[in-house]
Amino acid sequence: MLSAACCVMASKRGRDEGMTSHRPLRALEWVGERDGFLRIVDQTRLPREIRYLQLNSADEVREAIMHLKIRGAPAIGVAAAFGVVLGMRQARYRSAADALAHLERVVNALRESRPTAINLFHALERMHRLGHSIITAPEFQPQVNDLVLRLLAEAKAIWAEDRQMCRALAEHGAALIQDGMGVLTHCNTGALAASDYGTALGVLFVAWERGRRFTVYATETRPLWQGARLTTLELKWRGIATVLACDNAAGWLMRLGRVQLVLVGADRIAANGDTANKVGTYSLAALARMHGIPFYVAAPTSSFDATLPDGSAIPLEQRSPLEVTQPFGLQIAAEGIGAENPAFDVTPADWITGIITERGLIQPVNRATIAALLQSESPHKVTAIS
Ligand code: MRU
Repeated sequence: MLSAACCVMASKRGRDEGMTSHRPLRALEWVGERDGFLRIVDQTRLPREIRYLQLNSADEVREAIMHLKIRGAPAIGVAAAFGVVLGMRQARYRSAADALAHLERVVNALRESRPTAINLFHALERMHRLGHSIITAPEFQPQVNDLVLRLLAEAKAIWAEDRQMCRALAEHGAALIQDGMGVLTHCNTGALAASDYGTALGVLFVAWERGRRFTVYATETRPLWQGARLTTLELKWRGIATVLACDNAAGWLMRLGRVQLVLVGADRIAANGDTANKVGTYSLAALARMHGIPFYVAAPTSSFDATLPDGSAIPLEQRSPLEVTQPFGLQIAAEGIGAENPAFDVTPADWITGIITERGLIQPVNRATIAALLQSESPHKVTAIS
């Protein structure tokens, strides 16, 4: 449980302002400087209520990630980076060894918050590398503020890079969206899932801003309803034509010719292009393939895990059966019945038409095109389009 002292700050904007405002919410924000805090919107309460949480410790960040108060692969990476800052700020060290041991504890605790999104591990690795190099330098002085300030600067850099990457990939992907299309998307991949614009939804935001007119079919995304609760809210804020679709209506909508493109995000993409994303993505990709509909993934390069040869090694989070049998505390299944609740599944690379990244479009999706893109250093110029 988050301690009451840490975090509760009910929105003064109130329900109505939040629901009708065209200024989208930010999933997270660092407020202040060294003595600041991480402010997040509690996404478990949306769309009913806009409630901000002030997180002041690494434990509070960890709990918020575990309970999906903040969620979405890029957003949890950025939140975890700030979690390291908060964790290192909390403690007093007597020596470098003491500081190093504390850094390990903080990073390891955050690593255990959720297993699938690689963005979390990339961000923590970067924070750990910096912290380790500062602490092991001969000039390190435990009593001096420098460590926290430098970690804060790094977390802010990760945050800024995420904003830039998502914006750039959205610009690339927008060209795929044509007037009159029906675009089916799954889960939530917008501003609430990243630092700013988001990934798959970011593509749609930019296309709409450029004057394209299309309809988005947002799947409900059971059992936690990120599509119904969050995606419809973000699309509504931007005035984008939106239809909420039951997860199990997707195939029939394709059959009726309503869907011309499927566009989803990613939590981890293996070296060969196999892609872990919210459970149900695999089924959508199979259906798209069966109906001859292009299936695109939108993800920043921070979502790639080049260390895994294929998707079979991606750790897939299993969540509590109660999320299925008792959604929002309401018992809907027979008492005592068990339930499967995998949070993610893996879509095979050869079912994916293309992957939209901040550096360009990967198409076709295979080991060679992915390696070429990941090795390229100049965003926007190098693409792996064949
Ligand atoms: O369990 P969640 O809500 O964190 O799952 C999120 C997703 O599956 C998103 O599609 C993915 O993180 C991409 S977000 C830009």
